[in-house]
Amino acid sequence: MIPIKNDRHIIRMRESCAIAANVLQELKTLVRPGMSTQDLEESGRASIARQGARSACYGYQIGSRRYPAHTCISVNEEVVHGIPSFRRILRDGDLVSLDIVVEYEGFIGDNAATVAVGTIASAAQKLLRVTEEALRIGIVEAVVGNRIGDISHAIQRHVESHGFSVVRDMVGHGVGLSMHEEPQIPNFGRKNSGEKIKAGMTLAIEPMVNLGAYKTKTLSDGWTIVTADGSPSAHFEHTVLTSDKGPEILTIPRPVLAPVHALLPVAASAAH
Ligand code: MF3
Ligand code: CO
Repeated sequence: MIPIKNDRHIIRMRESCAIAANVLQELKTLVRPGMSTQDLEESGRASIARQGARSACYGYQIGSRRYPAHTCISVNEEVVHGIPSFRRILRDGDLVSLDIVVEYEGFIGDNAATVAVGTIASAAQKLLRVTEEALRIGIVEAVVGNRIGDISHAIQRHVESHGFSVVRDMVGHGVGLSMHEEPQIPNFGRKNSGEKIKAGMTLAIEPMVNLGAYKTKTLSDGWTIVTADGSPSAHFEHTVLTSDKGPEILTIPRPVLAPVHALLPVAASAAH
């Protein structure tokens, strides 16, 4: 069953998604050659904490492994789930994907974007453009009465029409009370297939697009997904609310007041 959010849930989803978007926006502006991916991790961690939220990635468990960082930072041929590191220095011409998932007052917001480090090759520029367009085109299909496969198909069609490939091993997903809820949202598929879209679904739509072939593999760290052929990859993601008025992107930056309990320690220490 795909969870349907009520008005109270949606109020919370708006907050967690805005916070996730604020963090992503902040990190995008910080990216420059010479910094490490750990620098981005530290800024992301601070930004999440400052807004009274928590990283949903940190400690996230798959099997017996727990994800060890607050952000996912994936460079070039890394598709998703790159673990930030002091040793990974961003160079002019790199692509860096920033994936931010936060929990705020019990609800989760998820978004991602890939940005250029300095000046990138024109093929890489096109990869970013087409992947972001694919996300937009997928979101347009997230209308009540459509099916999930309509989103998948639209994304695949756009990506492949430009000669790129969609990753098949990783999918978009429902998001809300947990990071991964039903439904799965593949970035490839058939029109008019899958579950019917109803009002009140919160969907993380996230095309992952490779410049080369779609195959991926997992590095020995157990997390980092890379393209099998070493070609660069891009990733754009929004959390979207379906409604009778059409799809609404929730992961848009805006200030969110921290909850009172997150502010209390600061207020208390200021009084001394
Ligand atoms: N946006 C990613 C996803 O939906 C975030 C994963 S966090 C990690 O899968 F902990 F699994 F790395
Ligand atoms: Co996601």
